[in-house]
Amino acid sequence: MKSASIPLRIGTVGLGRLGRFHAETIAHRLPGVTLAGVCSVTPSDIDWAKAAFPEVPSYCQFDRMLEDPTLDAVVLSSPSALHCPQILQALEAGLHVFSEKPLGIGIAECQKVVAEEPRFPSQVVMIGFMRRYDPSYIDVKARIDAGEIGRPILFRGYSVDPASAIEGALAYLPHSAGQFLDMAVHDIDLARWLLGSEPRMVTAAGGCYAHPEFAEYEDGDNVAAFLQFENDAMGFLFAGRTAAHGYQVETEIIGTKGSLRVGAIPQQNLVEILDGHGVRRLCSQNFLERFEQAYVSELRAFVQCIHEKRPSEVTAHDGLRATEIALAAHQSFREGRMISL
Ligand code: NAI
Repeated sequence: MKSASIPLRIGTVGLGRLGRFHAETIAHRLPGVTLAGVCSVTPSDIDWAKAAFPEVPSYCQFDRMLEDPTLDAVVLSSPSALHCPQILQALEAGLHVFSEKPLGIGIAECQKVVAEEPRFPSQVVMIGFMRRYDPSYIDVKARIDAGEIGRPILFRGYSVDPASAIEGALAYLPHSAGQFLDMAVHDIDLARWLLGSEPRMVTAAGGCYAHPEFAEYEDGDNVAAFLQFENDAMGFLFAGRTAAHGYQVETEIIGTKGSLRVGAIPQQNLVEILDGHGVRRLCSQNFLERFEQAYVSELRAFVQCIHEKRPSEVTAHDGLRATEIALAAHQSFREGRMISL
């Protein structure tokens, strides 16, 4: 690996729903960092990038971007099936890599990243489980670790998208590898992190309640899973695409001495509207609105790891475990039986 430049030069790959936000974060919100290249195979994305960052080189091929010898790192927001091969390519090119979740859509490709990573000990590899950088979840983790709620009994995680976002979800369906891997994977990572334990079994259910298109991918528009962890804690996950009210990520951890909840009412801000409909609070409508701060903080943490020459807190191993558990849940959903992990 080359020694990191000052300022650090980061290229970003994929300029879709999340990639554009990451590009803007790198360009404007990370001190000591330069956006050194953008890459997308979609011409309209390149047009957007040329208007947004006129000085930044744009590439329609990842290989071309990697030929820039001045790059220090890449941030991958490409479709999930590309993460593993692009991580390995970037590592071979001597770069630090931040990859969006999930690490990969197949177990073998994730295992390959985990097996190859030790060949690049001075390069940072980080997976984008951004909830770990959200202030509320940081607080919850500290309270659990301090023993405030006693022994954890149940982790309950809901991740639901608004019905108004269904067009985007349907368009992404061919690349998503299923609700458990695309959506519930965040709750799977949270559960492992907060409980400090691995699940030993999973059983899943669900269906196509409003959108039969999901059945084409042996998936549901709303799915749920029940898990039991090695420390005996239980887990319940729910991922849905049909919420009338908005984007809601709700989490509860019940312990022997207390419970912690995050996001039980997914309000957009502190405003309450009193009008002819009664008393209302507006609801978050998408992941960028709810987790803006966490997306910025996780990239700051990535940059900090590079500067401090230390591994990231969210590793490729975490990515592999989350993919294994999500795929087991999907298998349980398809086969209607409990899967041991
Ligand atoms: P999207 O479909 O909106 O964007 C994908 C982008 O990748 C497009 O710009 C496309 O042109 C580009 N692309 C496709 N093939 C490429 C290639 N070979 N080389 C370079 N670029 C290529 O997808 P979205 O929603 O932005 O998701 C991207 C990734 O981010 C997915 O892995 C998804 O799971 C993850 N994601 C994570 C979220 C989180 O909360 N952490 C939220 C949303 C997405």
